[in-house]
Amino acid sequence: MADSSLDPASFWTQANALLRKNVTYQKRNIKTNIRLVSFPFIICLLLVLLQGFINSQLDKPSNNCGCACVDTNGDGKCQKVCGLQYSDLDQAATCPIPNPPEWPPLLQVPAPEYRAVRTDFLPFTDLPNESCRSSGSCPTTFLFTGNNQSLGQILAGNMIKASFNLNASDVVDSLATNVVGSDTYPQTTNFLDPAFFSGVPIYNVQSRCSSNSTLSVSFQEFSINVQQEVSCVQGLPLWRNSSSEINNELYKGYRKGNSESKINEFTAAYDFLNSNGNSFNVSIWYNSTYKNDSGQASIALVRVPRLVNLVSNAYLQFLQGPGTQMIFEFVKEMPKPQTKLRLDLSSLLGTLFFTWVILQLFPVILTSLVYEKQQKLRIMMKMHGLGDGPYWMISYAYFLLISLVYMLSFVIFGSVIGLKFFTLNDYSLQFVFYFIYVNLQISLAFLAAAMFSNVKTSAVVGYICVFGTGLLGGFLFQFFIQDTSFPRGWIIAMELYPGFSLFRGLYEFSQASFMGNFLGTRGMRWGDLSDSVNGMREVLIIMVVEWFVVLFIAYYIDQVMSSGSGKSPLFFLRNFGKKPSTFRRPSLQRQGSKVFVQLDKPDVSQEREKVEQLLLEPSSSHAIIVDDIKKVYPGKDGNPAKFAVRGLSLALPRGECFGMLGPNGAGKTSFISMAVEESLKSVNLFNGGVADKQAGKYSGGMKRRLSVAISLIGDPKVVYMDEPSTGLDPASRNSLWNVVKRAKQDRAIILTTHSMEEAEVLCDRLGIFVDGSLQCMGNPKELKGRYGGSYVFTMTTSSDHEQDVEIMVRHLSPQANKIYHISGTQKFELPKHEIRIADVFQAVENAKSRFTVFAWGLADTTLEDVFIKVARGAQAFNVLS
Ligand SMILES: *[C@@H]1O[C@H](CO)[C@@H](O)[C@H](O)[C@H]1NC(C)=O
Ligand SMILES: *[C@@H]1O[C@H](CO)[C@@H](O)[C@H](O)[C@H]1NC(C)=O
Ligand SMILES: *[C@@H]1O[C@H](CO)[C@@H](O)[C@H](O)[C@H]1NC(C)=O
Ligand SMILES: *[C@@H]1O[C@H](CO)[C@@H](O)[C@H](O)[C@H]1NC(C)=O
Ligand SMILES: *[C@@H]1O[C@H](CO)[C@@H](O)[C@H](O)[C@H]1NC(C)=O
Ligand SMILES: *[C@@H]1O[C@H](CO)[C@@H](O)[C@H](O)[C@H]1NC(C)=O
Repeated sequence: MADSSLDPASFWTQANALLRKNVTYQKRNIKTNIRLVSFPFIICLLLVLLQGFINSQLDKPSNNCGCACVDTNGDGKCQKVCGLQYSDLDQAATCPIPNPPEWPPLLQVPAPEYRAVRTDFLPFTDLPNESCRSSGSCPTTFLFTGNNQSLGQILAGNMIKASFNLNASDVVDSLATNVVGSDTYPQTTNFLDPAFFSGVPIYNVQSRCSSNSTLSVSFQEFSINVQQEVSCVQGLPLWRNSSSEINNELYKGYRKGNSESKINEFTAAYDFLNSNGNSFNVSIWYNSTYKNDSGQASIALVRVPRLVNLVSNAYLQFLQGPGTQMIFEFVKEMPKPQTKLRLDLSSLLGTLFFTWVILQLFPVILTSLVYEKQQKLRIMMKMHGLGDGPYWMISYAYFLLISLVYMLSFVIFGSVIGLKFFTLNDYSLQFVFYFIYVNLQISLAFLAAAMFSNVKTSAVVGYICVFGTGLLGGFLFQFFIQDTSFPRGWIIAMELYPGFSLFRGLYEFSQASFMGNFLGTRGMRWGDLSDSVNGMREVLIIMVVEWFVVLFIAYYIDQVMSSGSGKSPLFFLRNFGKKPSTFRRPSLQRQGSKVFVQLDKPDVSQEREKVEQLLLEPSSSHAIIVDDIKKVYPGKDGNPAKFAVRGLSLALPRGECFGMLGPNGAGKTSFISMAVEESLKSVNLFNGGVADKQAGKYSGGMKRRLSVAISLIGDPKVVYMDEPSTGLDPASRNSLWNVVKRAKQDRAIILTTHSMEEAEVLCDRLGIFVDGSLQCMGNPKELKGRYGGSYVFTMTTSSDHEQDVEIMVRHLSPQANKIYHISGTQKFELPKHEIRIADVFQAVENAKSRFTVFAWGLADTTLEDVFIKVARGAQAFNVLS
């Protein structure tokens, strides 16, 4: 209906208006805004407080390097002394250790219940009988293979000693010259070897054990008194014909995947390959899973070095004889200073919290968009001249601005209070990530807004999404990310859900800052994106692509369904210049409407033809084209259905004011309400004072003028006014008319009124509307000429002379028609073509000489007369038919 070629208000005028509207909306929701903005601050403060609490807990003595009250100088008073010697394994991590203790090198020996025995799933009969498990006396088995069996057997014999030689005055050294092992799990450091602090015996591996083979040793290492049980375990070397046999045997004994009874663990296995007297070539199997790294990223030590030393020493002895020894004396850590335990909470909890903080904006944008839809603000703004393009651009820019300000204050605040999450990661990387994400989020909100028409529903769904995404991310998705065996493709597929890509990005930031804090280095840098385990690159790519795709889909859906423009789903395939008329109806209905065409008055059917013509050849000069619209109020409670509007066609060029006249209930308001029903509602809504409380303070008349002024603000092409001057004093009415007259120059105005004066002053054309159809249309003069082809003659005499007056009139005009008479006052209609005004004066002068004339008058027909005539005529016709 609206014409696209008209100059709209400039982009900046629209932007300015929309911005002010938004600002007003924000001001009105100031409390919500304060709550929204304070959310990230509260989260950050909460993190800082928790961090402080955790730090104070970590700084407690029980978490620090072990200390004790010791009487150092023998005066009976104790002094606090700290150091490794008072620590347990956990506290040792923070102690200063300038001279780390020396520990004998150990083999990793399987625990007695896991040691290899004869089973039905292995063909070898040289393994010990299963009965040894119950007594805990199973030997620990070594497997050997190689190209030369005799050489292999010599080397194996050299490795396992026949006896255990302990020098009580130098226990550590003598443990090193024997073969000792432990079934405890190694730690990440060797400051305190768990084998000597776990309370279980270490094993001395011998070729044969006597019955009472457990002895106790004690030694002092770094002022720590170590009491240690040493029990004998038989070392059993077994030859296998090939390395594949060994592989098979080790594999079948694996603890996982087998029931307990089938576990068969070996100490180690050696393949001597092509070794001979000139070259030594060996490969060693060992179990790298034997380490205590429950979830920690740091690498646990594995007891391998002694395995290498053992076979090297055996080869040396094969070459040089048993007198030569290659002794592996001790294992010792690097010295270290005192450290503090530190745990960066913002990196640990940040992912979940920050996901919530950022997602918060989604329901905010969503509800704001749905609010505009629910309150019909969007359609109203459109009515007032706001184009789709500017609406999108301005709203988008507005939300982007809000999001960026929100994110900026979030990052700045987080950095100021020192959260490592923000300070350690590269700021430009953070900016790019947040920028892309908020854009994606705004596009998503536009898309989601198309699905909602109720603010409350959208708010509920929005917040469920926020919290659901955070929780799913934190308690499900995160495990998939951490599980390195989980297929990467599936993770990327999950990241297609924008909430998860946000979560992943924040997770990567938090990991980087956590490790950076832990290792005392920095967080994520641009260069780290090329790192294959860093998921940030995929996330950025996914988000950029989704941003554009989602924005496009949202715009498309908006154009098709929600903007009220009624475009077909394939609108973009059509020529944009020829927008279909809103009032266009399916051609099927045309058949039925012909019934009315026959009854149309010539001027009305002429208008109908004009409309048909305009529909075939659209022209930009017409602001409104109405093609045969109807409205039927369905019958209720047994009453027949009422045709409020029957087949009305109308074309209004720009700059015309069209007046609708008609008795009450003629269908005027129904007409201007239709297929523009929405827009009218919003006009009424707006005029009715919903827009601004201040309007309530004006008087009724002021309000009307205000609403007319408001309706003209946006430079709309079409303005509807429903009885605009009703109830105004003459002065106000005049000024209102002046406004309307000025305003009509560039737009089409449809105006309903009961004031004939108003219609005559303002309207270029009038239509008289009775019983749902136009009875006639034309400019006021034409109508008067057409329907008022008569003068109205009024004369008041005493009632005795009424007859005389009538005779006089009949004489003047035989076709005169008495339209009114009451106690001496009579009104006649005199057809213009039958009389001359001079004759009337003459006749009256004559009459005055014959009887007393109290008053008389001759008037041209008024619009009022036309109206009454047309209305009566049409109603009479309807009653007859
Ligand atoms: C295997 O090793 C032994 C001991 O060194 C050696 O005497 C023998 O010749 C070797 N056999 C072969 C086939 O190389
Ligand atoms: C035991 O160790 C001490 C100190 O290293 C040494 O003096 C002594 O000779 C050793 N005894 C034996 C029997 O090796
Ligand atoms: C290994 O080889 C020897 C000699 O070739 C043979 O006697 C023995 O049965 C083989 N062992 C197995 C388990 O195949
Ligand atoms: C290696 O050690 C792990 C952990 O102690 C154990 O579960 C597994 O069975 C061992 N594998 C073999 C082949 O002994
Ligand atoms: C050691 O053994 C491997 C496997 O049999 C062989 O590929 C390699 O050439 C050998 N190295 C030497 C120095 O003989
Ligand atoms: C790993 O170390 C922790 C503490 O250091 C200990 O509680 C746990 O029992 C160890 N696990 C194994 C399998 O030794």
